Amino acid sequence: MKKKFYITTPIYYPSDNLHIGHCYTTIIADCLARYKRMRGYDVRFLTGTDEHGEKLEKAALERGMEPLTYIDGIVDNIKELWKTLEISNDDFIRTTQTRHKEAVQKIFTKFLEKDDVYLGKYEGNYCIPCESFWTDSQLDEDGNCPDCHRPVEYRVEESYFFKMSKYVDRLVKYYQDHPTFIEPKERENEMLTNFINPGLEDLSVSRTSFAWGIPIVENPHHVIYVWIDALANYITALGYLSDDDSLFQKYWNNDDVEILQLVGKEIVRFHTIYWPIMLMSLGIRLPNKVYGHGWLIMKDGKMSKSKGNVVKPEKLISRYGNDALRHYVLSQIILGNDGTYTPELFIDCVNTDLANKLGNLLNRTVSMVDKYFDGHIKDSGIKNEFDEKLVQQAHLTLKNYESCMDAYHIDKANHEIFDLVNALNKYIDDTKPWVLGKDETKQPELENVLMSLCRGIYQVGIMLQPFLLNASAKIFEQLNVSDYQYEHVYDFNFNKEFNVVKGEPLFNRLDVNEELNYLTGNENE
Ligand code: MSP
Repeated sequence: MKKKFYITTPIYYPSDNLHIGHCYTTIIADCLARYKRMRGYDVRFLTGTDEHGEKLEKAALERGMEPLTYIDGIVDNIKELWKTLEISNDDFIRTTQTRHKEAVQKIFTKFLEKDDVYLGKYEGNYCIPCESFWTDSQLDEDGNCPDCHRPVEYRVEESYFFKMSKYVDRLVKYYQDHPTFIEPKERENEMLTNFINPGLEDLSVSRTSFAWGIPIVENPHHVIYVWIDALANYITALGYLSDDDSLFQKYWNNDDVEILQLVGKEIVRFHTIYWPIMLMSLGIRLPNKVYGHGWLIMKDGKMSKSKGNVVKPEKLISRYGNDALRHYVLSQIILGNDGTYTPELFIDCVNTDLANKLGNLLNRTVSMVDKYFDGHIKDSGIKNEFDEKLVQQAHLTLKNYESCMDAYHIDKANHEIFDLVNALNKYIDDTKPWVLGKDETKQPELENVLMSLCRGIYQVGIMLQPFLLNASAKIFEQLNVSDYQYEHVYDFNFNKEFNVVKGEPLFNRLDVNEELNYLTGNENE
């Protein structure tokens, strides 16, 4: 039976169009989903939108629109963006969909039946943008929200509360028994130090001050707290508590599934404290891992709408293509750490890795096969002194690539691939095919060099498939191979001949000044 893998992104607030920081999360998830599919897993990949809450109600009202009318437009844009970026999600959940709302109501009823929620009164500081209550001691030094540092409002409200304290010991035990549940590890320490050890307070899980949410069936004057509503998406999208819960049974409710939840570091708290406790209350298993990735930051801090420093993905994609954006975020940001975006780095990344290293390698190789052998080469049975080292390096790269990808260390896996690209470029320098090409008697040696290069590029192409969608396809087109299953990747000699088809360069070298003008200018905004 195929191994199963369920991967989720956070569901995005459709309060405005998304920027490349949001794309980062989705691209990582897409890369991992593609990798697992390539390795033969049965993959389910979910993304979607988080459409309730006061923030969205406000965003719509400010524009004089009904919430759903406003949200529908943004959600269309988000779906379009994922389509443009060729994101391979299997489902897109919207929390305003009936399938979700009904299941969330049933989940809340289960909490009530289990006596895990009770009706009380909330007094505290509320941050609308983060949809979070904070105690006085949690506020920052200016008395603002500790997450986004914007002002909070003092509120008194009747509210249902979830008895978090009932589950806290089990949660801590779960962390201890599953030391890799939260990654990077320091985020687990943050959870313990900042939230759990000081005493986990019961969580306010309903609101009466606005209506844009899912009403509690037993008391419709209350809507369910947007984070409880949103977190449930990961199972409501699988049909949990619906008439047909086969997807839930398949991709969640059994220990065979590897479940990975990718989230930005500021929402690790919700995913590693409240969400596991919700699951414990419902009596269902927890994910294998919650990976808290870092932020894409600009020179002036986190890229965010409120700071006005966002980079629109469309601006990059329309000029440089998906692969350039994918490569930037997948190679330049160490998963778990923050990573910087600057136009200079972006251009340099395209020029150095994509145009010079990868693009040139393919272009030089295919051109030489064309020039010296009319596009057709086969195994000449000859080896040179550099061949064995190259084969060993390719083998090692593959091993490292797999272990990095299996541990979700995407950036490291990417560097492994580019190390092999470097080794192949060095192999050209070492073997000097242009010198061999001048000597008629050296034809078999030259043919061997070009075979080795094509074989190495073939392996690079296979490993690149989850990373560079267009470039990997172009590599196979120019090498003119139709069988690029992962299972062949360890067999360096799998291809016995190549009939190459020279094509356009994979990436054009960018003119730094011209592109800086474009990237820092306001045209196409
Ligand atoms: N709706 C909640 C998530 C609910 S999940 C049950 C939310 N939405 S969000 O739209 O604000 O953010 C969604 C994701 O985008 C988060 O993981 C967040 O970290 C990520 N990013 C938003 N800005 C980002 C950067 N500048 N860099 C990297 N990721 C960023 O939170």
